[in-house]
Amino acid sequence: MFGEWVISKLIKKINGNVFCYPDMPQLPENVDNIDWYIHIPFCKGKCAYCPFRSFPYKNEKVKEYVLAVKKEILIYKALLNINYIGNIYFGGGTPSLCPGAVIEIIEFMKSNFNINGEIGMEANPIEVADKKICDIFQKGGVSKVSIGVQTFDKELLAKVNRQFKADSAYEAIRILLDKGFYISIDMIHGLPDQTVSGIENDLKTLKELEPHQICYYPLVLFPTTKIYNDVKQKKIVVPDVKEQKKMFNVICKYLIGNGYNQEAFCNFKHDKLGTKDYQTCENEETIGIGVSSFSKIPNNGLAYINTYDFNEYISAVEKGKLPIAAGVAVSENGTEKIKNSMQLLYAWQHIVHGANINISKQRYGAFPKESDARKIKRFIELLKIFRIIEQKSDKYEYTNLGHYLGMRIFRKMMAGGGGPTAEKYISAMMNNPWPLMDDSFRA
Ligand SMILES: C[S@@+](CC[C@H](N)C(=O)[O-])C[C@H]1O[C@@H](n2cnc3c(N)ncnc32)[C@H](O)[C@@H]1O
Ligand code: SF4
Repeated sequence: MFGEWVISKLIKKINGNVFCYPDMPQLPENVDNIDWYIHIPFCKGKCAYCPFRSFPYKNEKVKEYVLAVKKEILIYKALLNINYIGNIYFGGGTPSLCPGAVIEIIEFMKSNFNINGEIGMEANPIEVADKKICDIFQKGGVSKVSIGVQTFDKELLAKVNRQFKADSAYEAIRILLDKGFYISIDMIHGLPDQTVSGIENDLKTLKELEPHQICYYPLVLFPTTKIYNDVKQKKIVVPDVKEQKKMFNVICKYLIGNGYNQEAFCNFKHDKLGTKDYQTCENEETIGIGVSSFSKIPNNGLAYINTYDFNEYISAVEKGKLPIAAGVAVSENGTEKIKNSMQLLYAWQHIVHGANINISKQRYGAFPKESDARKIKRFIELLKIFRIIEQKSDKYEYTNLGHYLGMRIFRKMMAGGGGPTAEKYISAMMNNPWPLMDDSFRA
């Protein structure tokens, strides 16, 4: 497929520039108003499909971790000239499992910086079905919650080892909405034994609840997960491509018909419930704090990821070092090349994720090299010819076909696409705290 060929080319372009700890990236002087992501890597159990870094919840571990997170924040404070910060997002893992930790970190951020944005948090239904816990988060300043539901079908939930009952998800969302939180619900299609009629039932429940935002992800089979092995060993069956396409079309048609705008293949926002946003896959500039966090600082052409190892993370920050394990290098003569590659990559991400389609003339004009801008322009013309995107005033929007292709490409970029997809990086990071960028990494 043409789109897949382009993405593999772009990924290869930046892939030659990875660096290893302890080399430090050259950070920009001013990162005011940038968003911060703080990873809370603790969960009650491990869901069968989940590739994210998490450890079993233990009170002492959480305390140790919060101290380290504060140290990492202070390292950034000393390195960078930060007056204001944008939004703060707590992800995981399960931040809602650790209210004390989240509130302590928020207080710490408030005492060190001026916060211009809002505070968002990922939550599991089981904790936020308790009104008292919701109050603690609200008083602490959390105003946006991304709640992981995946499906309201209790048998499917049990199959993927989710630790809550479908009723508690419904209850939790009602409570959060009543309390005035901005709510984004995470759903997954393509789960084992999931059917189109099962999806239709989930959609009806979503319509009843009417959250501000819905993120409907396609199931990605990451090799580090239980579900991947179960499918490989034919213990469970996931819907085939034809069935998945039907599910995707049913989801888009239903949500668009019920007041939601499709902002990206997986991201639906209610068009009458305000203009906020819970940033998901298309987030822009971010400083990532904590184990396995990802930072993206496009102004300087930087993207890097923290170590996945708990103890190594703690010991790096205790020594006053940023716990960066890998990223895109910035060197004297490499800077321009990387900047160009990163800008191509970001342009591509905007096409794939449709992030309010910022491939405006303004962003376009920001390309340092005329030849890069020309390449993107030709690429956009092709997408228009194949009816993957269409122009609406000064921006581009996906067609239905475009969203479907975007979803297929996203899955391939994550896992199963060969080459340097996310699965390779995740496996390497899981196996080695400071992975050497060997040939398999660069494949
Ligand atoms: C960091 S995770 C989960 C946060 C929270 N602990 C929870 O379980 O609700 C964020 C979202 O990623 C999505 N996700 C995780 N693994 C996935 C996979 N293998 N395929 C598709 N979506 C996935 C789920 O929808 C999940 O809610
Ligand atoms: S999906 Fe959420 S609760 Fe489940 S293992 Fe992943 S981070 Fe933890």
